[in-house]
Amino acid sequence: MSKLNKKVAVITGGNSGIGFGIAKEFKKEGAVGAIVGRNQKTLDKAVAELGDDFIAIKADVTNLDDLGRVFKATYEKFGKIDVIVANAGGAVTGAAFGTVAEVGEADFDKTIDLNLKSIYFTVNKGLAYMNDGGSIVLLGSNAAHRAYPSFTLYGATKAAVIHFAKGFSNDLLGRKIRVNVISPGTTDTPVFDKFVPEEQLEAVKKYWSDVMPIGRIGQPSEIGRAAVFLASDDSAFMLGAELLVDGGLTYLQPK
Ligand SMILES: NC(=O)c1ccc[n+]([C@@H]2O[C@H](COP(=O)([O-])OP(=O)(O)OC[C@H]3O[C@@H](n4cnc5c(N)ncnc54)[C@H](OP(=O)(O)O)[C@@H]3O)[C@@H](O)[C@H]2O)c1
Repeated sequence: MSKLNKKVAVITGGNSGIGFGIAKEFKKEGAVGAIVGRNQKTLDKAVAELGDDFIAIKADVTNLDDLGRVFKATYEKFGKIDVIVANAGGAVTGAAFGTVAEVGEADFDKTIDLNLKSIYFTVNKGLAYMNDGGSIVLLGSNAAHRAYPSFTLYGATKAAVIHFAKGFSNDLLGRKIRVNVISPGTTDTPVFDKFVPEEQLEAVKKYWSDVMPIGRIGQPSEIGRAAVFLASDDSAFMLGAELLVDGGLTYLQPK
C-alpha cells in the first residue's frame, strides 16, 4: 500500500537537490503535484523525469504574488492540496555567506527573504488552498544548532524555521494541519556548485564525508524518505517536531 496515494503535494525547490529527491520519493509513494523553482531548464528536466502526474511551476518563492499563483494553479489542476514542502532555500543568488563583520544590509535582506520570509509566506499563501488534516514539511538544517564559520545568518534563519514548525502547528491545531521540520546534515546536492569553485568541489565533499560521524554525506533520497514519513499518516502523532536526518552531525562528535 503506497503511503501517499493520490495525495497532492507542492514542493518548492523540487527541481534540484533535496527537493527533487523529495519529489521522486513522493512519486514512488503515489503522490502527485507541483514542483516550483525559477530555472526553467531544471524544472523541465525534473518534471520530465517525474512524469505526467507532476507539473512544474516557474515562480520565485520570495515573491508573494508568485506564491499565490503557485497554490492557485496547483489547486486548479488537481482540485486539492494535501501536502506542502517548503524546501526552496540555501545559497542565495548574489548574496555571500560571511561573518557578522562582512555581511551588510543588502545580503542580510536577501538571506532573510529566501531562507525565512519565503517559508512563512509559502505556508501563509498555501493555507487558503490546503485541506484540513494536511501535512506541512519545512526544511531546517543542522546549521541551526552549530555555529559554522560564515554561516551565522543562514543558521539563524534555520533556527527560526524550526520554531515555525512549532508555532505553525499551534496556529493550525483547529484545522488538524501538522507542521514538522527536517534538519539535514551535509547532503550531496548542486548547492555546493553555488559557492565552491569547481576545482575544489571534490575536496570539499571529501572534507565533509570525513567530518560526518557516519563517514559520508547524505543523499537527497534519504531526506526524501524522511519527508514521506512526515507527509504520511505514519507520523500522525507528530507535530511541531524536528527530525534530524544528518548522519549524526548535530549530536555526535564530528570526526
Ligand atoms: N545540501 C545540504 O547539505 C543541506 C543541508 C541542510 C539543509 N539544506 C536545506 O535544504 C534545502 C534544499 O537545499 P539543496 O541542497 O537541495 O539546494 P539546491 O540544490 O541549491 O536547491 C535549492 C532549490 O531551491 C530553489 N530556489 C532557490 N531560490 C529560489 C527562489 N527564490 N524561488 C524559487 N525557488 C528557489 C532552487 O531552484 P531555482 O534555482 O530554479 O530557483 C532549487 O530547486 C534548502 O532549504 C537548504 O537550506 C541543505
